[in-house]
Amino acid sequence: MCYAIPGKIVELDTRSATIEYYGEKKKAYTDLVDVKEGDYVYAQGGFVISKVPEEEALNILKDWQELFFQLQETDRKLSNNPKTIYQRANAVRQKYQGNSCCVHGILEFSNHCSQNCFYCGIRSDNRNISRYRMSVDEILSNVEYAVNKLGFKALVLQSGEDYWYDEEKLTTMIKQIRDNFPSLIFLSIGERDEKTYKRLFEVGARGALIRFETSNRELYSRFKPGSSYDKRIDLIRNLRKIGYLIITGFLVGLPGQKSKEILTDIQLTAELDAEMFSFGPFIPHPQTPLHNTPLPELDTMLNAIAKSRLMSPSAKILVTTALETLDKEKGAREGLMAGANSLMINITPIKYRRLYEIYPNRAGTEDDTQTRIDAVLTLLYSLGRAPTDLGI
Ligand code: 5AD
Repeated sequence: MCYAIPGKIVELDTRSATIEYYGEKKKAYTDLVDVKEGDYVYAQGGFVISKVPEEEALNILKDWQELFFQLQETDRKLSNNPKTIYQRANAVRQKYQGNSCCVHGILEFSNHCSQNCFYCGIRSDNRNISRYRMSVDEILSNVEYAVNKLGFKALVLQSGEDYWYDEEKLTTMIKQIRDNFPSLIFLSIGERDEKTYKRLFEVGARGALIRFETSNRELYSRFKPGSSYDKRIDLIRNLRKIGYLIITGFLVGLPGQKSKEILTDIQLTAELDAEMFSFGPFIPHPQTPLHNTPLPELDTMLNAIAKSRLMSPSAKILVTTALETLDKEKGAREGLMAGANSLMINITPIKYRRLYEIYPNRAGTEDDTQTRIDAVLTLLYSLGRAPTDLGI
């Protein structure tokens, strides 16, 4: 099972390689792996993440060739003749980003959280959920399974803001993953200090998922007590400066959010140089102060996706689990047809996944991971999308 096809390095300079895929050339940084011209490699998010033995690479490329061009053709057909704003956004996605669709795995390794965000079910004041922490070994064995058995090339390691995982534990974890299960690692661990993030970058993490949640300062300070808007935005900017690929975004439908503020949220996401936009509907959790808030409409979400695409033609835009939860039947498909081009698959063991209840009834909570992978691939193929990430 493959989410990315190997490419051949056809040119090397000091920091990056030109990689060819069926005649198409992409660039990727080479700081994580020692490579030479002629090597076959996997690249993710603009980084070479591992080498692939030539024979294995040629076999995969042979198997993929027909499907690769078929999918492109299907996508082209489905994206022409745009009329509505969704169709226009989809056509822009097709023109600037082609048919590739990121399919990252996400491992939720702890639901302990020192923060007390009003919108979130795992806030520290919620005494009604059981808390769990996966040990470093448990995390590693889940990563091994995801990379070696399921074929994931990019993983998000997510937790509440849980300082039990200190710099030491996180460093060991990332090093071990880089050495044994090569993949592109995104951290989603909240507001750690910059020094920790720097260290984790040095040992091989390359992505950081950290939402600013809302560009409305007043709502921010009301719903995120004890956290400073300016500090969070500064941290995101500084992580980008360190070299992290940034996944960031916001919540749609927080009480008091005006609909025109969604545009400001989109602008801020773009301005933070997000590699991937990640925004979703706010889904109230019964054990939080915001439990009475009405859900946003599916159309509001699709509109936000389409506007993000029109504003940032080359962005990766995620169909979030929250969007899939808002409309379990149509959310993912319609998101992908309104300009989105990324998905995540939850690889957390089901017994823990149930407890990572940031909001109730999360889509996919009870699905076996392989079943979910099959469903995602069926959806992507039906839309002419290739579950690949071909580099920068
Ligand atoms: N509904 C939707 N998204 C939520 N998050 C937290 N609580 C909720 C909720 N009730 C999102 C936040 C956070 C991410 C991990 O989950 O945006 O950054």
